[in-house]
Amino acid sequence: MTTSGEAEPDRDAALLAEARGAARRAGAHLLASFRTGVEIELKGRNDLVSALDRESEELIVSALREGLGEIRVIGEEGGVTGPLSDEEWIIDPLDGTANYLHGHPCWSVSIACLRNGVPVVGVVYEPLADNLFSAVRGQGAFWNDDSIAVSRTTSMSEAFLATGFPFRAHPALDLYLGIFRRVFLGVRGIRRCGSAALDLAHVAAGVYDGFFEFRLSKWDVAAGIVLIEEAGGVVSDLDGGGEVLTSGNIVAGAPQIHSELRSWVAEDASEALLEELCPLSH
Ligand code: IPD
Ligand code: CA
Ligand code: CA
Repeated sequence: MTTSGEAEPDRDAALLAEARGAARRAGAHLLASFRTGVEIELKGRNDLVSALDRESEELIVSALREGLGEIRVIGEEGGVTGPLSDEEWIIDPLDGTANYLHGHPCWSVSIACLRNGVPVVGVVYEPLADNLFSAVRGQGAFWNDDSIAVSRTTSMSEAFLATGFPFRAHPALDLYLGIFRRVFLGVRGIRRCGSAALDLAHVAAGVYDGFFEFRLSKWDVAAGIVLIEEAGGVVSDLDGGGEVLTSGNIVAGAPQIHSELRSWVAEDASEALLEELCPLSH
């Protein structure tokens, strides 16, 4: 049993090995069914899911439990299972489900371990390209075997960003569109590829200079947080605080880009305003 949110290097390296193995096992399964006409189910309007999401999560959880015994899991599909512990595994078994089900090649598997609420291990795996992004707190971030760092970009006019549309937070759409307009007009480019976990991995790798989205879930961002922080970047909520895992509002990037992007976003948006428009308890 661990007692703090601080890094425990040997244990964390072992946790990472388990996370990598689990991500690869699930990724192989997803890959085998990609573009085979998997049946689409609806969680909500435009919110897709499939048997593959559930099977991927089962494979990840069973792989982690084979290696680590009874662990606490918070999975997008399976919910909360396992005994209370200061270590929790946060799993998005298929991030970018809509892409996957429509045959678009941008999707990933995201696995993180939190200790006392702090992400200490993160893996984002892109099976189609066999790209595995990983990080352990205090031990750096990697793209397969290569060490990665956030970009050195300091000017917004040169920034290449990613975002996500608030498709589950329609009351925040007008707010988002106003911010999008300001950012779009001030930067080099913005992409919306449809896998937030992969977007965050790409921020860690310096592909994107920054990222913002509202009302994500903790499994979308937990692995990305440790990836970006270990790659030298900054992640915050809309107010510049550390409530990203609870509020789901995220601004991330290379240090200077994060600082400017957050101030542009904060001209219109705040944690309080998002709570007013899209209450978390709703
Ligand atoms: C979604 C993707 C997408 C983001 C959504 C997420 P899902 O995850 O990460 O990029 O814009 O907010 O919900 O539903 O495909 O796991
Ligand atoms: Ca997701
Ligand atoms: Ca998912």
